[in-house]
Parts: sequence; C-alpha cells; structure tokens
Amino acid sequence: MGSENFGHNDVISQILYTDDQIDNCVLELAKLINIDYQGKNPIFIGVLKGVFIFMADLLRKIEISCDVDFLAISNYSTDARNRGVVRLVKDLDIPIEGRHVLFIEDVIDTGLTLNYLLRNLRERLPASLEVCTLFNKPSHRLIEIPIRYKGFDLPDKFIVGYGLDFNEKFRNLPYVGVIKAEVLHSVNNSFKLKQGL
Ligand code: IMP
Ligand code: MG
Repeated sequence: MGSENFGHNDVISQILYTDDQIDNCVLELAKLINIDYQGKNPIFIGVLKGVFIFMADLLRKIEISCDVDFLAISNYSTDARNRGVVRLVKDLDIPIEGRHVLFIEDVIDTGLTLNYLLRNLRERLPASLEVCTLFNKPSHRLIEIPIRYKGFDLPDKFIVGYGLDFNEKFRNLPYVGVIKAEVLHSVNNSFKLKQGL
C-alpha cells in the first residue's frame, strides 16, 4: 500500500501538540529573538522543506529588521547520512560574512545534518551563528549541538505535521502528531521490497 492512500485518521495515533500550543510556543521563541537580536539585523536561515511552516509563523512574529534565506539539501543515502554528509541543492542567496545568523530548524534528530550545515556556514565567517529549533529529539542525538532557542523536547517517536513529512505527506497538518508504528513498518517494508533489500 502506498502512503498516498492513507488518510490522516488512518495514520495518526496521537496528537502531540495542537495548533494553539504550537502557536504559543512560536510566540515565546519570537519574543526572545526580538529582544536578543534588536539592532543586529540578523539573517534567518532555514533548510527546506520541513521548516517552511515554522519559518513563516515565526517570521510574522519577528518585529525587528531582518533578512531571510533558505538552503535546500538532497535526501542522502544511509551511508552518507551516517558520515554526516549532505548535498546542498540550493545555496544561500545572501552572503553571511560579518552578519548575525540564526539558523532555524523544524526538528533536530541525530544532529548530523545540522552539524554539517553549521560547519559549512561557519567557514563563511558570520559575526555570530546560533540555532533555533521548534522540535528537539534528545534521545537520538549523535553529535552535540548547542541550541540557543528550543521549542519542544519530543519523545522518541516519528512525528508529522506542521511542515514535517512522512514520504512527503502530511506536511499540511496544522498540528503535530505521532505516526502509527504499523504504518511506518508497512511503508518501510514495501520500500525495502522495491529496493530488493
Ligand atoms: P538529523 O538531525 O540529521 O537526524 O536529521 C534531521 C532531519 O530528519 C529533519 O530535518 C527532518 O527532515 C528529518 N526528521 C527527523 N525526525 C523526524 C520526524 O520525527 N518526522 C519527520 N522528519 C523527521
Ligand atoms: Mg529539517
């Protein structure tokens, strides 16, 4: 069964955070950022695609002068992922040398992707480089990442909604929910079958 056949009620076992809870959390993060970056004209950088809803909501609560830019990375192979290597498929449009950069993430899991991207950005000599993530999965962390602004700590579950996907689906859910284990397994198994694994 392909994931395109699943409806929301068939795949979500639990709503973890409602749209109201997320909105309150985003507001609290924005308040802190508004204070800390006053007069610094920061650049907010997000990684597509998962961050697009969080970025849109956060930015509309930011009241200071700022720039916005995006990176896009390719889906990496398991091997490349384990080495913490990602491929940039869209680089920044704005030079960040000497600028205050706030890196915006939807979810930090192992931390490997972010670690790679932060190293890449640091080489461009920004005046400062900090991380803001809406969701954090501390139990999966393989590399320590200093997080300046953090929304929710998540349990060790695969979540979808509010920009986060499963096989490119469910980004449009206004809340964040846990995906049923049997759905994950059935899709993973059919993927493995197709790949002959
Ligand atoms: P990592 O921190 O390098 O393991 O990778 C983080 C990326 O994995 C995120 O940017 C998401 O694209 C994806 N990811 C991790 N956990 C989840 C989840 O629970 N739901 C959806 N995507 C996830
Ligand atoms: Mg992401």
